[in-house]
Amino acid sequence: MAQAGSILSVHGATVSFDGFKALDGLDFTIAYGELRFLIGPNGAGKTTLLDIITGKTRPDHGEIVFDGRPGAQRWTEHRRVRAGIGRKFQTPAIFPSLTVAENLEAAIGFRDRVLTLLRAASTAERGMIDTTLSQIGLGQRAEVRAGLLSHGEKQWLEIGMLLIQQPKLMLLDEPVAGMTRRERDRTGELLQQIAQDRSVLVVEHDMDFVRRFAHTVTVLHTGKLLCEGPVEAVQSDPRVIEVYLGPGRNQGEKKGVAHAAN
Ligand SMILES: Nc1ncnc2c1ncn2[C@@H]1O[C@H](COP(=O)(O)OP(=O)(O)OP(=O)(O)O)[C@@H](O)[C@H]1O
Ligand SMILES: [Mg+2]
Repeated sequence: MAQAGSILSVHGATVSFDGFKALDGLDFTIAYGELRFLIGPNGAGKTTLLDIITGKTRPDHGEIVFDGRPGAQRWTEHRRVRAGIGRKFQTPAIFPSLTVAENLEAAIGFRDRVLTLLRAASTAERGMIDTTLSQIGLGQRAEVRAGLLSHGEKQWLEIGMLLIQQPKLMLLDEPVAGMTRRERDRTGELLQQIAQDRSVLVVEHDMDFVRRFAHTVTVLHTGKLLCEGPVEAVQSDPRVIEVYLGPGRNQGEKKGVAHAAN
């Protein structure tokens, strides 16, 4: 159930690499049960923002409040996973020689570092696996070895492996890169469905995808918040057009279009 307030707020976050500020006093907030899209030119700091949320990178300055708890910028990566922060990487972290269902079974224990494969899944866990399989649309593929799945199916399996750990906030960096149009549509619907019970933050360059599935969009530029609001307002904002959406600007989107042609 969505509750009032923010699942995550980042206050004044600065990250410097050899004097270069990848994030520059950034303030960012996402509500409980919100699906938020994060866009901006290459090098804007989008991935760095995900990195300070997961703990991969520590900010030089700034505070992170997660689920009502301040000081989260000092937590270890694993403590953040346990607290409910889940991240999907671009290359799926799946076990290719296990079946789809076995991958989900293995993932159940990740959050609490329990080795679930060493014992039979309980009835409750079986139920979670079945629910997740149908949610990610892989019910018919449960017994297929994960290494044999298509690119899109592997991405959905990894989303399922995150989902089964029941994160409160799910972070995804360019989840539809390399997907066909149909796979992208299915992923958009899946993200909207996932965000009914948790918060989801999606970094994406594919503006066609963003237009179709986003409600609120945040635009980063040079490590700062450039603008934020409904997708219609953001895409007609002159500042966003100048730095990102204008002719020849959106290099990442060109990358996306090239993938889509495959
Ligand atoms: N580990 C690092 N060491 C040095 N510089 C880094 C490091 N990580 C990121 N940067 C720099 O910080 C800036 C922001 O990078 P970031 O990856 O967050 O951008 P991004 O918005 O995700 O871009 P893209 O759309 O290309 O993925 C870039 O200029 C990048 O080169
Ligand atoms: Mg990035």
